[in-house]
Amino acid sequence: MGYREIYARWQDNPEAFWMEAAKAIDWVQAPSRALSDLGDGRFEWFADGLTNTCWNAVDRHVEAGRGSQLALIYDSPVTHSQRKITFAQLQSRVARLAGALRAQGVEKGDRVLIYMPMVPEAIEAMLACARIGAVHSVVFGGFAANELAVRIDDAQPKAILAASCGLEPGRVIAYKPLLDSAIALARHTPAFCAILQRPEQPAPLTEGRDLDWMAFQADAPLADCVPVAGNHPAYILYTSGTTGQPKGVIRHTGGQLVALNWTMKNIYNVDPGDVFWAASDVGWVVGHSYICYGPLIHGNTSIVFEGKPVGTPDAGTFWRVISEHQVRSFFTAPTAFRAVKREDPTGAQVARYDLSCLKQVYLAGERADPDTITWAQNKLGVPVVDHWWQTETGWAIAANPLGIETLPTKLGSPAVPMPGYQVDILDDTGQPLPDGELGSIAVKLPLPPGTLPTLWNADARFHDSYLSAFPGYYETGDAGMIDADGYLYIMARTDDVINVAGHRLSTGAMEEVLQDHPDVAECAVIGVADTLKGQTPLGFLCLNAGCTRPEAEIVAEVVQRVRDVIGPVAAFKQALVVNRLPKTRSGKILRATMVHIANDTPYKMPATIDDPAILDEIKNTLQRNGFATA
Ligand code: COA
Ligand code: AMP
Repeated sequence: MGYREIYARWQDNPEAFWMEAAKAIDWVQAPSRALSDLGDGRFEWFADGLTNTCWNAVDRHVEAGRGSQLALIYDSPVTHSQRKITFAQLQSRVARLAGALRAQGVEKGDRVLIYMPMVPEAIEAMLACARIGAVHSVVFGGFAANELAVRIDDAQPKAILAASCGLEPGRVIAYKPLLDSAIALARHTPAFCAILQRPEQPAPLTEGRDLDWMAFQADAPLADCVPVAGNHPAYILYTSGTTGQPKGVIRHTGGQLVALNWTMKNIYNVDPGDVFWAASDVGWVVGHSYICYGPLIHGNTSIVFEGKPVGTPDAGTFWRVISEHQVRSFFTAPTAFRAVKREDPTGAQVARYDLSCLKQVYLAGERADPDTITWAQNKLGVPVVDHWWQTETGWAIAANPLGIETLPTKLGSPAVPMPGYQVDILDDTGQPLPDGELGSIAVKLPLPPGTLPTLWNADARFHDSYLSAFPGYYETGDAGMIDADGYLYIMARTDDVINVAGHRLSTGAMEEVLQDHPDVAECAVIGVADTLKGQTPLGFLCLNAGCTRPEAEIVAEVVQRVRDVIGPVAAFKQALVVNRLPKTRSGKILRATMVHIANDTPYKMPATIDDPAILDEIKNTLQRNGFATA
């Protein structure tokens, strides 16, 4: 069956489609129905089924006689080390960790925050939580203490699992002091922390609160998998919204199992036993879905890579890992390929390795520019698939489903909607637009299994953020169009979210930090085009009247503040001082127009602009600083 027949089959009877897919999952009690309509735009999948994620990701493969297959390959060019863990080993390691957590009082439904770098223990921590029905929330290592504190207060974890440090090229990131400051800043205090001591920089433990990772597991009993309901939260993952308060995206157990398992063959074209690699980080949704859960649920070997596309040690690292570990499908962000291409434009490094194992490459996280796709396709000689999704959806809304059929590639398009997603382009009043017209991209409710059912402790915010603009639809926050062949084009965000090196960031959150500076009267942050990172944040500061301090000093201070409050991952390095910000007559800052000016892209003078002369001032300032060069 081809893509169109499979999509039509889903359209014809979505519930039957997903009940069929659910048969690939082990249930303690099979769900009696696929979908529950909770009203008010809220839906749940497989709510009355009973299952366990860890069983499906680990134990069942051992039971099936595949215990000696590799589950995880840890490849760490930054520590010059590798480790291989079979499914049988993973089972006993995870059961022991789960037993240790339970011995410390962690039970089903308790939250556990995980703040760890790319080491296998991070995956084991996620699986150990799943084993006992605890709800994990992984926080990316590049966030600062304040961001960690915000998440601690929202998720209220009973335990925090952390490593003593992470490793960035050329420097050690001490996690423990960040964790200590976060706990000091937060209102909520965890009952205990378990710290994985890394030899690169062990950390002093806080008496009475911190446990040593190895010691606390030493005498722990092995824990069995606890059956949980299909609508039991598997995890909370915080993502950037329009304000400094991140959104706690919830993933339910049953839907995640069914959906991710379905994607592994149909989208990523791997069979159980194949090696799959997503070069991302456990702190992002890609890490949740495609380093940890998807490959393991489907019985694939997953690679845990602690390194960068370049500089660890060179632009050939990706190709070495693929060749050495026989990767069949590889997933990364376009920015990573741009970094490699910049260092090795001719692909000399590619030629050094036998990449005959590699059958396809997947890109997501930001718009994949045609140059990058073409370069990768030419150098690697395999299909390079752009696919579009979000933290909220947990898996691809649109893709080229190579496991079903290889559809023709159209550069600039992440291809076609996957079963589960009816994608419409809507105008401002919510009316569907004809093919080829640009509008808001919305997905008809209900969203498929594996997508967010709501936000943690924030049902009203879930409704306001996603369901209120277009009744009956989920608002993606992206703008774009669909062509006559049904191919989607993702053009821009419709909110204040930007994408820097494949990392999703909120300009609103950065503005909150700038606004706190005593000399700043008003500010704006926009995302400007960047040849490596896709976008990069740029701040505009209006200083208080009478402020006589040197501008450069204030700029340096706000740059440092964003790094301290949000973290290095914000990559906020530039701010310009201006007299005034362009606004509408009602006082709304015209950020989108400023983006056009900075990027030298055409724009229409907003009809509601208060004082058009301010745009000239902004343009002059940008030009003086090397932007808007036309
Ligand atoms: N812990 C601590 N700090 C981190 C970090 C982590 N896990 N990850 C990144 N940082 C730091 C970086 O060291 C950098 O610090 P600096 O300002 O002192 O240089 C800063 O955060 C910004 O990082 P980044 O934007 O990633 O830039 P980079 O220059 O380090 O690397 C790329 C550029 C393109 C090589 C890199 O961004 C990359 O590999 N991106 C892939 C993105 C990706 O996988 N996204 C996941 C979605 S699929
Ligand atoms: P995240 O939640 O971090 O995965 O970021 C999701 C956002 O990244 C989407 O809403 C898009 O704006 C952007 N994005 C992800 N994948 C793509 C893609 N293939 N093409 C264009 N934009 C993308």
